[in-house]
Amino acid sequence: MVENETGHTGDVAHDDSRRLGVLISGRGSNLQAMINAVAAGSLDAEIAVVISNKQGAGGLDRARAAGIETVVLEHTSYVSREAYDGALVAELRRREVSLVCLAGFMRLLSANFVRAFPHRILNIHPSLLPSFPGLRGQDQAWRHGVKVAGATVHIVTPELDAGPIVAQATVAVEQTDTPDSLAAKILVLEHRIYPEAIGVVLDGSWRIEGRRFLSD
Ligand code: GAR
Repeated sequence: MVENETGHTGDVAHDDSRRLGVLISGRGSNLQAMINAVAAGSLDAEIAVVISNKQGAGGLDRARAAGIETVVLEHTSYVSREAYDGALVAELRRREVSLVCLAGFMRLLSANFVRAFPHRILNIHPSLLPSFPGLRGQDQAWRHGVKVAGATVHIVTPELDAGPIVAQATVAVEQTDTPDSLAAKILVLEHRIYPEAIGVVLDGSWRIEGRRFLSD
């Protein structure tokens, strides 16, 4: 493996493992987009496990319907973030997951978790980062009055919503849009770019220069 000056290349993906671990907290529509892309053959990957921090997350039913193993790890059962994240890492490692995909997983991850999967954790965020990080990015964008909104897939680093950007897509904000209609438009983008970005990262012909994600 050849490393550039930042020490990060996509070559780690060349172990041929395309096993995904998907972390969710809610309805799981982005998970469904991954399931659909795998089924359609447009995403060459296997979803090895879906882990939720919420017992009733709708995405768990989507996973079960697709025959994917599910795990519920409720953070309320752990004394600290470190303890919870350690349990998450153990579940993912047990299934030999090579890429972790956050899909509406509404928890901050500790630096130790990020270190356990260096440059192997992706997140989808419903805004054009670096604008509007944090909760409900779509609402923040709508309230701010932006004319263009969108979605971002990025590599997860210890800093919230701040890692190298793998993919973005945009949509016009109309005067008639409400927070809900804008969120719905952004969700369509999310479902398109997340499976695509996962494929790019798994293919492995990428590198990071500074904070720029560059693929061949
Ligand atoms: C998505 O809109 C995703 O971008 C957002 O949560 C929603 C999950 O929907 N994630 C974040 O805001 C992360 N900061 P889903 O459960 O239907 O995929």
